[in-house]
Amino acid sequence: MAIVKKKAAPKKSNTIKLKFDTEWTYAPAPESRSAASIKPRYELFINGEWQKPQGRKYFATINPATEEKLSEVAEANEADVSKAVEAARKAYDKTWKKMPARERAKYIFRIARMIQEKARELAIIETLDGGKPIRESRDFDVPTAANHFFYYAGWADKLEYAFPNRRVSSLGVAGQIIPWNFPLLMAAWKIAPALATGNTVVLKSAETTPLTALKLAEIIQEADLPPGVVNIISGAGATGAAIVNHPDINKIAFTGSTDVGKLIQRAIAGSHKKATLELGGKAANIIFEDAPIDQAVEGVINGIYFNQGHVCCAGSRLYVQESVAKEVIRKLKDRLETLIVGDPMDKNTDIGAINSKQQLETIHKYLSIGKKEGAEMYESSCPLPRKGYFCRPTLFTNVAQSNRIAQEEIFGPVLSVLTFRTDDEVIEKANNSPYGLSAGVWTDKGSKIFNMTRRMRAGVIWANTFNKFDPTSPFGGYKESGFGREGGLHGLLPYIELG
Ligand code: NAI
Ligand code: MG
Repeated sequence: MAIVKKKAAPKKSNTIKLKFDTEWTYAPAPESRSAASIKPRYELFINGEWQKPQGRKYFATINPATEEKLSEVAEANEADVSKAVEAARKAYDKTWKKMPARERAKYIFRIARMIQEKARELAIIETLDGGKPIRESRDFDVPTAANHFFYYAGWADKLEYAFPNRRVSSLGVAGQIIPWNFPLLMAAWKIAPALATGNTVVLKSAETTPLTALKLAEIIQEADLPPGVVNIISGAGATGAAIVNHPDINKIAFTGSTDVGKLIQRAIAGSHKKATLELGGKAANIIFEDAPIDQAVEGVINGIYFNQGHVCCAGSRLYVQESVAKEVIRKLKDRLETLIVGDPMDKNTDIGAINSKQQLETIHKYLSIGKKEGAEMYESSCPLPRKGYFCRPTLFTNVAQSNRIAQEEIFGPVLSVLTFRTDDEVIEKANNSPYGLSAGVWTDKGSKIFNMTRRMRAGVIWANTFNKFDPTSPFGGYKESGFGREGGLHGLLPYIELG
């Protein structure tokens, strides 16, 4: 890696300080945009073909780091949704349901391999469309998406071993609605288990990040999947609602906000539709005084600033034991200063662009709420690019448990720091949240880890690490974080009926 040494201006009186004033910066290392092809316009992928939207409406998707338009995509209306559901139903009845499971597995394996082959292009498009650092798209989103397809391809012909002595049957057509924070990965989380269990799919991408799902549609077409098995459409809330309300959908899989999750639950109440909802979170990340502090600080940084904090399981509430609070806060502030904020396409960038203007406004709203509530705000002193939607990594100290910044999901690079004295106190505080998706515990003692994980109401609890994902491991929440699990053996259950 090229390192450019900037010489500090010589100081007249303090020669010792001169040594520490020397500033090191990374030379820019931008990924090349030319390795990705983005069409000026995308249609809807229905029944294995690219079909024009019946309402003839298109909407632009922009690059949030530059505000430039990348492409325009079709907006599916109710009639398009019906067409997609019909195609999925036909493919289910005529082909997919009847196909031997080992044959279905081959298609899923093929998709996984093609994602790997096109990994670089997918990573570039993910970063351009959504603003996340290329390092994350390249090293996390795309490989994890491929791994999900590999993993579930493996289960396709082994369902009788997954659920011994039970008769496993598929459900039919799955309607799947995904968010903008991990567009390709969420598509993989949804599509792979549905296909492995013999269901067909209608998937809607999120409005600000439709492009990698459309690239995935190209891959699915190239993989020669029977027409209609996977249909990928774009659109906003109304399109999502049309999927939810369609009478011929058997299962809804949704990841997104708790508000929309509640709407969906209301809409399908009393119907035959099965559902999994993966909603918001406000994870407690807990540092005990016996924890390896430097490692914990790194984990906290990764826990909240990964993907600009647009992560449902982000460690957004930090609880530090009082005896080490001063040290932890000082180290966090120091580390904040070293985070590189800027061009998401640069391989050195730690924090890219906020996904949309709307999300940036939400984050700014919470920054002023935090200040008004009396918390002390600290932000990195880094410069921000003039164009695009950017936010400095920020933390709040002197936060009270009842503050909105400790209770509500901000979904940005903003950490709330609270303190505690005893185990009982921190469990009480950690569980005092409408959410229950994830949590983290940092301590040297195994017994403490078990005690905490048993008493905390969170679907995923990381110990001495954070934000670790694996297709073999189930993920999902309690309370207002939703229900149902994705990933692992558990991730098969929402897509099957057991006889
Ligand atoms: P959202 O919940 O509106 O969007 C998620 C998906 O749901 C998108 O594909 C959207 O088009 C679709 N949708 C919207 N209204 C719908 C409806 N009535 N029926 C069916 N589908 C519908 O989330 P939004 O507005 O983008 O973000 C707002 C907040 O939600 C964020 O600030 C964040 O706190 C939270 N959020 C949480 C996510 C998570 O991973 N748990 C992901 C995205 C947002
Ligand atoms: Mg975009």
